[in-house]
Amino acid sequence: MYPLIKLLTILPLLALGDARSSDNHTCALTKPIYSCENTTAIVDTCCTPTEGLVLVTQYWDTYTGLENEGSVLPKDSWTIHGLWPDRCDGSYGQYCDLSRQYDPVPSPNTTTGKPDGTPVPAWQGGDVITPLLKEYGKYDLLAFMQKFWKSQNSPDWTFWQHEFSKHATCFTTYDVGFNGSPDCYGTLYGNSTEASIIDFLDSVVKAQVQYPTYQWLEQAGIVPSNSTSYKINDIQDVLTNASGAEPYLGCTGLTRQVLTEVWYYTHSYGRPQDGFLKPIDQTTKSNCNATEPIWYYERTEGSEY
Ligand SMILES: *[C@@H]1O[C@H](CO)[C@@H](O)[C@H](O)[C@H]1NC(C)=O
Ligand SMILES: *[C@@H]1O[C@H](CO)[C@@H](O)[C@H](O)[C@H]1NC(C)=O
Ligand SMILES: *[C@@H]1O[C@H](CO)[C@@H](O)[C@H](O)[C@H]1NC(C)=O
Ligand SMILES: *[C@@H]1O[C@H](CO)[C@@H](O)[C@H](O)[C@H]1NC(C)=O
Ligand SMILES: *[C@@H]1O[C@H](CO)[C@@H](O)[C@H](O)[C@H]1NC(C)=O
Ligand SMILES: *[C@@H]1O[C@H](CO)[C@@H](O)[C@H](O)[C@H]1NC(C)=O
Ligand SMILES: *[C@@H]1O[C@H](CO)[C@@H](O)[C@H](O)[C@H]1NC(C)=O
Repeated sequence: MYPLIKLLTILPLLALGDARSSDNHTCALTKPIYSCENTTAIVDTCCTPTEGLVLVTQYWDTYTGLENEGSVLPKDSWTIHGLWPDRCDGSYGQYCDLSRQYDPVPSPNTTTGKPDGTPVPAWQGGDVITPLLKEYGKYDLLAFMQKFWKSQNSPDWTFWQHEFSKHATCFTTYDVGFNGSPDCYGTLYGNSTEASIIDFLDSVVKAQVQYPTYQWLEQAGIVPSNSTSYKINDIQDVLTNASGAEPYLGCTGLTRQVLTEVWYYTHSYGRPQDGFLKPIDQTTKSNCNATEPIWYYERTEGSEY
């Protein structure tokens, strides 16, 4: 009787033991390499991203559109757009793991952006990230995101979930075992999907704080103004100098004269989670008007706190 019970209780443990034997991915034991600099040298895709042109992207918006619900922009700071995994040639994938699709408004709505691509189903389950961060006691991370990671004309969580599902799922270092990929988190964590979400949000912040665009421009006398315009080359030079490589600058408006975006390109030394990013020149030329004045507008009255 006794040995049988003992055997039955041990069996599940053995099965678990087997699962655990493949959960290595201890990246500290692998010499890190810079992503995109020698892809054949990547031995563990959990430890170096294969789509390793890592973009740290930010917005300059002048309003949120939800001011009446209390959503305002952070004074003296650009806001977070995301952390993106481009392929080494500058092309990119999106919505790479549909088991982690939490974007209520997938854009594009197929994985290729073309009608014959795999459809990306709209997430119907509402806000996943806010309750998850609360469940794990990550109130400091949540507060930072609420202040600096702002959506325009939609609640911030929709934007966070869009960024996670569209981009984080294409970084191999946040893989959770979908479609034969390794599970970078293993059984150490109860739920690898949840671990990957929190890990990614943390990485976004770790990367973003290294790029204080507002202060870099301010130190060169470039501050938001509705009366003084700037030359795109002056802005470009300051940010190139300060960040260590030429970023992409994005402008809106019919004649592309309103500055709204910056994308800093990097190679990641090992995992983007660790935040060692080497500046690399952009692979996408700025779309801002090269000859006409550029406007770096002040925020709308009441849109800033
Ligand atoms: C995990 O690490 C152990 C110890 O180095 C090794 O014996 C085993 O083969 C590794 N498993 C995999 C799947 O790499
Ligand atoms: C790239 O890595 C491979 C495997 O480690 C190595 O054999 C090769 O020499 C490396 N290439 C360069 C250019 O460093
Ligand atoms: C994607 O959006 C386009 C344009 O709105 C629409 O025609 C198409 O049916 C949508 N495809 C899917 C798979 O939802
Ligand atoms: C893991 O977490 C996700 C997101 O919260 C949830 O949808 C999924 O059901 C969980 N999986 C397990 C096995 O609990
Ligand atoms: C770039 O940095 C150099 C050295 O610190 C400095 O001399 C130069 O004025 C800077 N240029 C701009 C446009 O900030
Ligand atoms: C730049 O502005 C000029 C004058 O408004 C316009 O003719 C030109 O098309 C603009 N260039 C771009 C790239 O929009
Ligand atoms: C500055 O101009 C922008 C663009 O027209 C506008 O949205 C914003 O409200 C203006 N800000 C102030 C303080 O006038």
